[in-house]
Amino acid sequence: MQTVLITGCSSGFGREIARYFLAHDWSVVATMRTPRADVLPPSERLRILALDVTNPNSIREAVEAAGPIDVLVNNAGVGAASPAELTPLSTVREVFETNTFGTIAMTQAVLPQLRQRGAGVVVNVTSSVTLRALPLLAAYRASKAAVNAFTESMALELEQFGVRARLVLPGRAPDTRFGENASTNMHGFEHEAYEDLGKKVFAQFADTSSQITYAEDVAKAVWRAATDPSAPMHIPAGADAEAWAAAAR
Ligand SMILES: NC(=O)c1ccc[n+]([C@@H]2O[C@H](COP(=O)([O-])OP(=O)(O)OC[C@H]3O[C@@H](n4cnc5c(N)ncnc54)[C@H](OP(=O)(O)O)[C@@H]3O)[C@@H](O)[C@H]2O)c1
Repeated sequence: MQTVLITGCSSGFGREIARYFLAHDWSVVATMRTPRADVLPPSERLRILALDVTNPNSIREAVEAAGPIDVLVNNAGVGAASPAELTPLSTVREVFETNTFGTIAMTQAVLPQLRQRGAGVVVNVTSSVTLRALPLLAAYRASKAAVNAFTESMALELEQFGVRARLVLPGRAPDTRFGENASTNMHGFEHEAYEDLGKKVFAQFADTSSQITYAEDVAKAVWRAATDPSAPMHIPAGADAEAWAAAAR
């Protein structure tokens, strides 16, 4: 039986990815900052472990407790929205700590066992916003674009060992806790220079008439990345992400 370790399973995409792999008879190590048994269906193939991807001790303990794993899904992430000029450097650092350095640290913690076994996949969940320049998301886009670049280079290094690395790029998913969790990372909209742009962009974020992404789209894209060796390096997830990826080609 294959084993997947997923970060950020308390809600949203991570929870759905865990459910999807459980439903496909995989052994699932669902990790969360604050472990809660009630967010996933009970299963003998499910283990829930504590993991904060910004904490090296937490990473070491979780990877040790998990034992051998075949697929790592770096899904944990935080959002942020601010004019670039007014984004506090502490917020930029916080976003990079989770989205970028957390992903890199988890990858480095798991890669030795994949390389030694000559098999395995690292799936990094970034974002379709890396396909297109959007205002007010400079720090967030940069944190995810850095993961894209890191993963693309790493994939070339890992081919020789039979280990794959893939990127899943979800579109906008208003149904997850992402917006709510990002609310502490929003700054500068009270500044008169950016007030109008803020209103315009937030009206677009709130628009329910356009195409969106559902958590199941992301779970299916991660499944494809994990199980289909012919899957492309960049896998858009969701109708909006697929349209953006097609336009970017
Ligand atoms: N929703 C969207 O529109 C969208 C679009 C494109 C890409 N994404 C990306 O998709 C991923 C999942 O987002 P989502 O929409 O499912 O949002 P979500 O519901 O807010 O889920 C994010 C998860 O990440 C976890 N997390 C945050 N900081 C962490 C840390 N330091 N260590 C471990 N876990 C941490 C959260 O756990 P806690 O419960 O402990 O906070 C939560 O489980 C993120 O990487 C996000 O950037 C989201």
